[in-house]
Amino acid sequence: MKVTLGSRFGIGILSLLFSVSIVATSFAQAGADSAAGAQPAAAAAAPAAGGAGGDIAAGEAVFNANCKQCHAFNEVVVGPALAGAVGRWPSEAALAKFIKYPQKVIDGGDPYAKGLYEKYKQYMPNHDFLSDADISNVIAYIKKGPTEPAATAATAGAPGAEAAATAGGGVDGGAFNIVLGILLLVLVIVLIVLILMVNILTRAVNNNDSIPAEDKAFIQQKTNFGAFFLSPAFKTFVIVVGVFFLAKAGYDRVYAVGIQQGYAPKQPIAFSHKLHAGMYEIDCNYCHIGVNKGKRATIPSVNICMNCHNAIKTKSPEIQKIWRAVRTNQPIEWVRVHNLPDLAYFNHAQHVKVGGVECQACHGDVQNMEVIKQHSTLTMGWCINCHRQTSVKAEGNAYYDKLLYLHKQQTKREMKVADIGGLECSKCHY
Ligand code: HEC
Ligand code: HEC
Ligand code: HEC
Ligand code: HEC
Ligand code: HEC
Ligand code: HEC
Repeated sequence: MKVTLGSRFGIGILSLLFSVSIVATSFAQAGADSAAGAQPAAAAAAPAAGGAGGDIAAGEAVFNANCKQCHAFNEVVVGPALAGAVGRWPSEAALAKFIKYPQKVIDGGDPYAKGLYEKYKQYMPNHDFLSDADISNVIAYIKKGPTEPAATAATAGAPGAEAAATAGGGVDGGAFNIVLGILLLVLVIVLIVLILMVNILTRAVNNNDSIPAEDKAFIQQKTNFGAFFLSPAFKTFVIVVGVFFLAKAGYDRVYAVGIQQGYAPKQPIAFSHKLHAGMYEIDCNYCHIGVNKGKRATIPSVNICMNCHNAIKTKSPEIQKIWRAVRTNQPIEWVRVHNLPDLAYFNHAQHVKVGGVECQACHGDVQNMEVIKQHSTLTMGWCINCHRQTSVKAEGNAYYDKLLYLHKQQTKREMKVADIGGLECSKCHY
């Protein structure tokens, strides 16, 4: 196939574009990798308290914190379904008294309350720790019914966005890609302009009779594509690109050895975080009692499960497994998901309690996981990256006052974990 000088220019620029895009994508990859380390505390569990004031919003918060584990609106959980419950009582005052001291009311001979007890065969716990205002708020909330999930989803976004804004500092993957896009666009425009110019010039030369014939022939010569593809320059180009890709693929494979990101083994009991931590909003620390105290978050013992499952869904075969474990005094053999090598030291309390880092920043949206899975790479680069990007939560922590003062004298930059020794080998290695 023969083409003209204009297209030859085009080919040159196209191959330039091609190599630029190869380099660009590999850089974008690297950018995304480092940005991934920053994982903002996205979609942290929605705060219990509803939006702006109002009895119902306050009541919802009280309900979520104290009642949700036993009550739903349209189904029986441990206690009765609460839709229409307020109307089943002679007055709100009587109901308030019942919520505060159920056993007293039931044993006091209230026939309706006694009927409830006979049906559910357990006393609702006393709520004497709630104020009268809390109780009337929660009654207002029960009267109105649950709020639509859409509203809570909207508020759930807010803390994540805030964390993303404060994380800052490193390479921003989004902005990087926009700049790349603009660069590519500029190159394409330059290409078009060049082709137009070459066309105009060629035409001008063709129409100019004063140019000698052999020069014209040179300008009008055709390009031989076959020869182009066979030319040493093109072959070298192909080989270089090929080697580049192979090397990158090989490097990635070698680098991934020992990384277990995404590991989600089947567990001996079909325990769902989505149900417990998501739907029922049970606090992570209720089960992982170590997070604020020490190195290990700890996996809950069966006693913690039995706080609820001595009454909830006791007939389910999955719950029967918990009962069997209690009867035989055998621990449940959960499959461990996260596992750092022994050479590294990691402490939960340091991060969760002192650092104020959300579980989700490292473990992902656990409250949406049916089966738990390893969200982060857990590599040294991942730890270091976050230490470089995350500011120390120094306000209100007297331990950091002096450090913060010294830091502020030297620079206006926020004090990052890296500045307090978060990159020192001995902090993480025994
Ligand atoms: C540990 C489980 C548990 C918790 C927590 C709990 N309840 Fe109950 N609730 C029950 C049971 C069981 C009954 C049935 C009455 C009985 O046997 O005591 C009941 C009954 C009720 C009733 C009467 C329902 C009807 O049909 O008339 C209301 C209203 C109620 N609870 C509200 C609340 C509120 C409000 C809270 C939180 C402040 C709460 N409950 C917390 C277990 C619980
Ligand atoms: C009702 C108890 C309960 C609650 C609440 C709970 N968890 Fe768990 N969690 C467990 C149990 C049981 C396991 C072990 C079984 C499994 O891996 O699914 C576990 C496992 C995990 C693991 C994996 C541990 C490993 O093997 O490496 C992580 C991470 C985790 N939970 C984080 C969370 C976070 C974050 C929350 C709060 C959003 C939370 N959990 C709330 C009971 C709970
Ligand atoms: C800064 C990152 C980070 C944060 C924040 C974090 N974890 Fe972890 N978590 C890890 C790492 C790393 C491991 C693996 C530890 C090991 O193998 O020694 C782990 C392991 C676990 C385990 C299993 C092993 C153990 O330590 O008992 C559980 C359960 C767990 N995390 C729950 C939580 C909960 C719940 C929270 C929030 C309250 C939380 N984590 C916050 C990084 C984090
Ligand atoms: C604070 C109360 C609470 C605690 C603690 C708790 N659960 Fe649950 N669990 C529930 C509720 C509520 C349900 C939903 C019951 C339903 O679907 O009607 C549930 C459901 C389940 C189910 C599904 C049962 C089925 O057949 O649908 C399993 C499995 C389960 N829990 C395991 C556990 C294990 C294991 C633990 C201890 C690590 C635990 N739970 C601790 C409240 C709790
Ligand atoms: C999501 C961000 C994040 C990740 C990921 C993270 N850290 Fe941290 N780390 C912090 C913060 C914030 C602090 C500061 C806590 C404080 O104020 O003491 C910290 C502090 C530390 C400290 C104490 C440093 C000092 O100078 O006192 C050690 C040790 C540590 N981290 C180890 C690790 C290890 C090991 C890993 C990886 C397995 C890791 N961290 C991953 C955020 C992170
Ligand atoms: C913030 C915590 C942290 C700091 C600071 C840190 N490391 Fe690490 N390092 C880790 C973790 C976590 C691992 C395990 C990662 C893995 O298995 O991929 C690790 C692994 C290693 C390994 C073993 C690599 C392998 O593939 O087995 C070496 C060697 C090492 N680190 C050396 C260092 C040196 C030298 C320094 C100081 C310049 C240092 N580390 C600082 C957290 C840290």
